[in-house]
Amino acid sequence: MHIDILTVLPELLEGPFNHSMIKRARDKGLLSIGIHNLRDYTTTKYKQVDDYQYGGGAGMVMMIEPLVKAIEHLSESHKYDEIIFLTPDGENYSQKMANELSLQKNLLLICGHYKGIDERVRAHFVSREISIGDYVLSGGELAAAVVVDSVGRLLPGVLNDETSALSDSFQDKLLSAPVFTRPATFRDWKVPDILLSGDTKKIDDWRYEQSLKRTRKRRPDLLK
Ligand code: ADE
Repeated sequence: MHIDILTVLPELLEGPFNHSMIKRARDKGLLSIGIHNLRDYTTTKYKQVDDYQYGGGAGMVMMIEPLVKAIEHLSESHKYDEIIFLTPDGENYSQKMANELSLQKNLLLICGHYKGIDERVRAHFVSREISIGDYVLSGGELAAAVVVDSVGRLLPGVLNDETSALSDSFQDKLLSAPVFTRPATFRDWKVPDILLSGDTKKIDDWRYEQSLKRTRKRRPDLLK
């Protein structure tokens, strides 16, 4: 899979993809990521990317020219399955969406800033708009990092134990069961006996029960 990211703050995205699963995915050649500075597509002397909004009002808007120039230039190298704009008024991001995106070949993520981007870019180029939650970030970069991380780890061959992505919280609409590792007793806190029993059927049943219990308590909406 190839993911291009268009941003005015490429520095912000240098760190997140050089560690852990995403680094492994890149090292294995399963994922490539291109980070592109929108300012490289400006034509003005001061590399302007934003301007006042028509009709007045507070806040600048990201200009159409550099965005379209960048999108058209990047599209020459990759045929994008989705051009995604990260924005708080987008569709709520979910594991289901991460699963869907992980099946694609080429994605372009556009990080917004200021008041947003000129609506004509959304109308004519963007195929999907994603919000990672009901709060406002100062830009789309951290949201793009969330999307890349959640999608990248789903690519076949990235996780060591392929089944472990399947038992993630949300993957089957339930939160995950609690997990424990050695030692079996720490202070006087014991790991549940059943997990030490070696009886895999009983352990599976216990985990399912625990998942249900946790979901009922914390996220009853998932059970509807
Ligand atoms: N940009 C600013 N806030 C955002 C959010 N919650 N999700 C996605 N992109 C954003």
